[in-house]
Amino acid sequence: KCTEAASGLLHHLCRFLTRSSSPGLPGPPSLFLIGNMMELTHEHLPIHLTNLARRYGNIYRLKCGNTTMVVLNSGEIIREALVKKWSDFAGRPVSYTGDIVSGGGHTISLGDYNEEWRAHRRLVHSALQRCCQQSLHDVIERQALHLREVLMDYRGSPVDLAEDFTVAASNVITTLAFGKEYGKSSSELQKLHSCLNEIVALWGSSWISALDSFPLLRKLPNPVFARLLKEVAKRDEIIREHLNNYKSQNNKTEDAITGSLLEGLERNNNTDHKVRLTDIHVHMATVDLLIGGTETTAAWLNWTVAFLLHRPEVQAKVYEELCTVLEGRYPKYSDRRRLPVLCSLINEVLRLRPVAPLAVPHRAVRDSSIAGYFIPKNTVIIPNLFGAHHDPAVWSDPYSFRPERFLEGGESSTRALMPFGGGARLCLGESVAKMELFLFTAYLLRDFHFIPPENEASLPDLRGVASVVLKVKSYTVTARPRPLTHP
Ligand code: HEM
Repeated sequence: KCTEAASGLLHHLCRFLTRSSSPGLPGPPSLFLIGNMMELTHEHLPIHLTNLARRYGNIYRLKCGNTTMVVLNSGEIIREALVKKWSDFAGRPVSYTGDIVSGGGHTISLGDYNEEWRAHRRLVHSALQRCCQQSLHDVIERQALHLREVLMDYRGSPVDLAEDFTVAASNVITTLAFGKEYGKSSSELQKLHSCLNEIVALWGSSWISALDSFPLLRKLPNPVFARLLKEVAKRDEIIREHLNNYKSQNNKTEDAITGSLLEGLERNNNTDHKVRLTDIHVHMATVDLLIGGTETTAAWLNWTVAFLLHRPEVQAKVYEELCTVLEGRYPKYSDRRRLPVLCSLINEVLRLRPVAPLAVPHRAVRDSSIAGYFIPKNTVIIPNLFGAHHDPAVWSDPYSFRPERFLEGGESSTRALMPFGGGARLCLGESVAKMELFLFTAYLLRDFHFIPPENEASLPDLRGVASVVLKVKSYTVTARPRPLTHP
């Protein structure tokens, strides 16, 4: 009898401590007041959320403060929400700290879905397309050759290439944005970068996200938050200076995105009377492009070299293909169909380490449903792209690095990839990124043999460090120049 009474008491206690605002959806027990906050502070959140899917299924809910989040873990379910029902889930959660980093919700990446956001995204999309058609290929080629020089200068000594990849990616996007290139030691570029990096890292920290879920914490002193405010102010000052310099130039670079945006602003305001876009939209779009376009591409390049150190035979195959197909010349983006081994490498790194592993949270803008579950308006949706790319129902041996799978599986396995998200919020820089990944990798692997510095023990750790961007832990590598005459 005593045991029965104790278990009854325990049952009632559990019911009191665990609550669920989406009764149908499975999910871990949510503790009174803190909900599932502990689940979200996990060191490698994408892996943890993927492991939870093995227990609760490919769609489950988590509670954090008074916010309900629904985590989607398979390609099929993510596509249902982001692509098929895009207009139900195109919103972004409005948050206290998001508002601060996005200049009051004026970035494309964090702005909520409405007429103003649509006009803003259209403006940036067409400016980006115009500049890409005019100059993207040349800009990337120049940066790839510049990166080659930098690596040559190391003369085969072991180095950490993370910073060089960041400078290369950053130079592509700053050249597109401002028509201006910087050297590695440019203090201006370093200032801009350390500031943008710091903002992304601080914003991804639980010290900051806790302020969104628990408003009372905003009353307490928070040095991390104070740092975030300082970096945001610094960022805005740098961008403002760039835009003012650009505006005051006599011979403006016509193909720079900034110019295109400023021109487009006038066109938009003359024709579309419903929404007035202003300088703040150009300012925040520049922030979007610089943040979106640097750490993602750089992190991906660093992952690629790390994986190749583990599988030298893949590197040998890509090199052989480059030599046979290109016969010594440098590649063009139009060569990609003739370089399937290289493309399979690119796809496999995008699959195993999607650099934006949890995309950017979406918000249900109206009551809807996903996988048959009712999803109330304002629910936060987390597309776990990392989980979808490791789904054993779609990928055989999902945790292994096997670029060959894309050669064997052909088009259908490429269609199952979704590193850039999908639907209304599809990565705005997808075509920039794809050309960068292809050309940078082809140039690097044509000219260098990447080898571990000393022995097997020094191979990179492939687990990664996950924040907003999934990065590889720092490692060193030797970039040995290939013989100038190709076999
Ligand atoms: C959004 C991935 C490179 C600009 C995103 C999202 C993902 C992503 C997953 C979120 C989609 C969603 O919310 O559902 C990547 C990957 C890249 C990359 C894997 C490279 C390997 C770039 C580049 C740029 C860029 C080069 C800029 C030139 C943006 C912007 C957004 C975005 C502005 C926000 C779009 C919106 O909210 O409408 N990206 N990205 N990204 N990305 Fe990228």
